[in-house]
Amino acid sequence: MIKVFPDAKELNKFAAETFIKIGNSAIERRGRFALALAGGSTPKSLYRLLAGKNFKNKLDWKRVFFFFGDERNVSPDDERSNFRMANENLFAPLCENALNVFRWRTELGDARKTAEVYEQSIKRFFGLAENEFPRFDLILLGMGADGHTASLFPETEALRETEKIAAVNWVERLKEFRLTLTFPAINNAAVVIFLVTGAEKAKTFKEVLRGRFQPEKFPSQAVKLIKGDLIWLTDEKAAQFLA
Ligand code: 6PG
Repeated sequence: MIKVFPDAKELNKFAAETFIKIGNSAIERRGRFALALAGGSTPKSLYRLLAGKNFKNKLDWKRVFFFFGDERNVSPDDERSNFRMANENLFAPLCENALNVFRWRTELGDARKTAEVYEQSIKRFFGLAENEFPRFDLILLGMGADGHTASLFPETEALRETEKIAAVNWVERLKEFRLTLTFPAINNAAVVIFLVTGAEKAKTFKEVLRGRFQPEKFPSQAVKLIKGDLIWLTDEKAAQFLA
């Protein structure tokens, strides 16, 4: 499903309402809401909205278990950290004393170790057997202007990962290691919501949705849920070439 909004404000309102609906339904059915947050800048305003007076009392946050779709290989208080962004815009403003947050332990100082530890924490939380993948109730994703999502960048090794849940990914263009959930983990989710806004993504967005299937070049194309709902929330600027 693709929904186009006039601006980020309308998009965020719909996204927050959908988030709360998915969360309450997961809590009703299983007693908990397990989700993976997106990083980058687009979700900041959505996180602030969720933590604000119109939404914060609509969900039992003690039953919410926060994971991250990806992370930069930096310390949690680094300005590039996705954890820090979520903490500043969601966790801290929620003012809940005991939130259940599973962040990538980048302080271990070894990206491979961080990914292994994260994978173990996911397996433990979901009670997974060998070769099983987690089924997040919701995964929020962004899309870069190059078509990447999470930290699954074009022409990088992690795109081809079929066994791991959490992986290290060397990104030549950035000259850095990134940490990311893999496509098997993402595609096993019950719901994935992409948040894509801004004119700078319009050309790529059209390629991702309407162009030839070439996931090495446009990794976001490889998000194809096994049994779940894929929702694209976008604004008119990013969707300008879709018509
Ligand atoms: C990250 C994100 C990444 C992000 C896209 C879009 O760590 O940067 O997880 O996948 O969602 O790069 O970023 P913006 O929202 O800043 O455009």
